[in-house]
Amino acid sequence: MININNVLDLIQDDFDAVDQCIQERLQSDIVLINELSRYIINSGGKRLRPVLALLAAKACGYQGEQHIQSAAIIEFIHTATLLHDDVVDASELRRGKETANALFGNEASVLVGDFLYSRAFEMMVEIENMRIMGIFANTTNVIAEGEVMQLLNIHNTDIDEEDYLRVILSKTAKLFEAATLIGAILAKQDKATETAMAAYGMHLGTAFQLVDDVLDYTSDADTLGKNIGDDLAEGKPTLPLIYALKNAPKPQAEQVRQAIVNGEKEHAEDIIQIVKECGAIKYTMNAAKQEVDKACAAINLLPENAYKDALRNLALFSIERLQ
Ligand code: IPE
Ligand code: IPE
Ligand code: MG
Ligand code: MG
Repeated sequence: MININNVLDLIQDDFDAVDQCIQERLQSDIVLINELSRYIINSGGKRLRPVLALLAAKACGYQGEQHIQSAAIIEFIHTATLLHDDVVDASELRRGKETANALFGNEASVLVGDFLYSRAFEMMVEIENMRIMGIFANTTNVIAEGEVMQLLNIHNTDIDEEDYLRVILSKTAKLFEAATLIGAILAKQDKATETAMAAYGMHLGTAFQLVDDVLDYTSDADTLGKNIGDDLAEGKPTLPLIYALKNAPKPQAEQVRQAIVNGEKEHAEDIIQIVKECGAIKYTMNAAKQEVDKACAAINLLPENAYKDALRNLALFSIERLQ
């Protein structure tokens, strides 16, 4: 859960309603589905995307109830991607607990991920809005493309910043974009506001993934709730490594190149040191800050109110977060 109390205070009732919707809609007659899905859903995620979806709808003046179901759908999609992602990344720790794949096995994780995706689609249909249905359908499709692009980039030292940005835009920023754009659509706002809300989510999501990729080098498992070094072990060329490849002194850059090609576990400490010393962390954090500035600028046109302030605060939080 997000650690910004005044943001949560603003939407507490809606937030509780989202949680209730999530719990109700996890229901299945299949015991393993209930067990695994409740394990991951109740394991202490920040619920950042549903919070954004609620705030965005409110900031646009929405008075109805459909933002609750939309927010629950978004958390289901997010959770499905995490179930699949932890299998692909062979991750063992999430939210300070064993990953579902570590506890229940890869097969169960993939299949329950499919259950969550398809339950989300059942819930989308109930909203009875083809525009929103289309956005969700496209979003899940683009996320899948992002994860596949990333898979293709593994161990590839020719990946540049542009390739990397394309991946994170698809795998992460797209869902943030959907969360905030749908708020504007539910509130029947004009095109300019829709564009602004979509841009806010997209930039914020990009910043969020940039920071996540930094934390994989700078944080620790206790703080992050995920094992650090997973990206390195996998040979995943995220921006810290891409920058180090280009800007570290030659011998160190060569070590980084080897690390990407081989997927390093043994020399992780050395690589982390190189990444820090060559300025890659600073560079990546600066890129995240620029995205946050763009996110904040995008929503200038919204009327001033507490929800708009909260959206700004959340954007700032995303680059200060430790987990
Ligand atoms: C994790 O997202 C996946 C990324 C896009 C980096 P979060 O950090 O929002 O995950 P939870 O839901 O709070 O655990
Ligand atoms: C985000 O990428 C995954 C998705 C958007 C599905 P990461 O692989 O970096 O996320 P974590 O670090 O496992 O949470
Ligand atoms: Mg991962
Ligand atoms: Mg990560």
